Amino acid sequence: MLLAPTIRRMQEVSRSWQKKGLAIGLVPTMGYLHEGHLSLIKKAVQSCDRVIVSVFVNPLQFGPSEDFESYPRDLKKDRSLCRRAGVDALFVPSAREMYPASFQTSIEVEKLSRGLEGAVRPGHFRGVATVVAKLLNACLPNVAFFGQKDYQQAVVIRQMVADLNFPVKIVVCPTVREPSGLAASSRNSYLGESERKEASMLYRALQLGAEKWKAKMPAEEVIRIVKDYIAKHSGFEIEYVETSDPKTLLPVREAGRPAVLSLAARLGKVRLIDNILVGAGLKT
Ligand code: PAF
Repeated sequence: MLLAPTIRRMQEVSRSWQKKGLAIGLVPTMGYLHEGHLSLIKKAVQSCDRVIVSVFVNPLQFGPSEDFESYPRDLKKDRSLCRRAGVDALFVPSAREMYPASFQTSIEVEKLSRGLEGAVRPGHFRGVATVVAKLLNACLPNVAFFGQKDYQQAVVIRQMVADLNFPVKIVVCPTVREPSGLAASSRNSYLGESERKEASMLYRALQLGAEKWKAKMPAEEVIRIVKDYIAKHSGFEIEYVETSDPKTLLPVREAGRPAVLSLAARLGKVRLIDNILVGAGLKT
């Protein structure tokens, strides 16, 4: 497996693959790989001729009081997981390589970045869109793979790719969950044993909400039931619970319609997000 620390080297390698007519898949990550990432890598390996995984903890997408410094990192383990999974190249740029001192351009996907995560993490999606654009330009993939757990991120990236005509297909893969229902996340490493149990209540609450939504209960009541369940069964403090249109991400109030039921909640310094698609005939 090749290790590319610079954009120039990564582009050289990708161009050589392109010349041979090989289909290139990219799995962008911030490292500390877990089962969710591995499912994206597996999908990429199955469907592409060459697979690149990028590992870069992107400072632009963290707010000043967020966990950039303490974000878990373990490049040695990531390398060995990637090698075993059949990855062809690991793109591991430094912050200086991605953002030299003269750097000054950013990408804002305006409407889709406003609500949900965007409302509580100002600037987050500007950071995500900007780094993903740079990763696409560095790795030159035909296909890029993202997880449904970060639903809004996937929608924002799809829009950016369409608006700016990136010649890449975006594939969104289902959320991988532990047997308890807890969604795989690098931030789960912050949780102790009993906190993990409490965290699994978030998915239970979403499942309960999905049942009520299917039964056409009004959105306000579904949201209240999800919040009450979390408050009763865990110490998590809820930041938001929302039912949104899967494409526009605007709030959906008509009971039973296709929607994404999403939430963010905190336990001490740990902040988790999760979502579930509700209503009929949904595809991400
Ligand atoms: O989902 C993530 O891990 C990150 O937001 C991404 C897409 C790699 C951009 O830094």
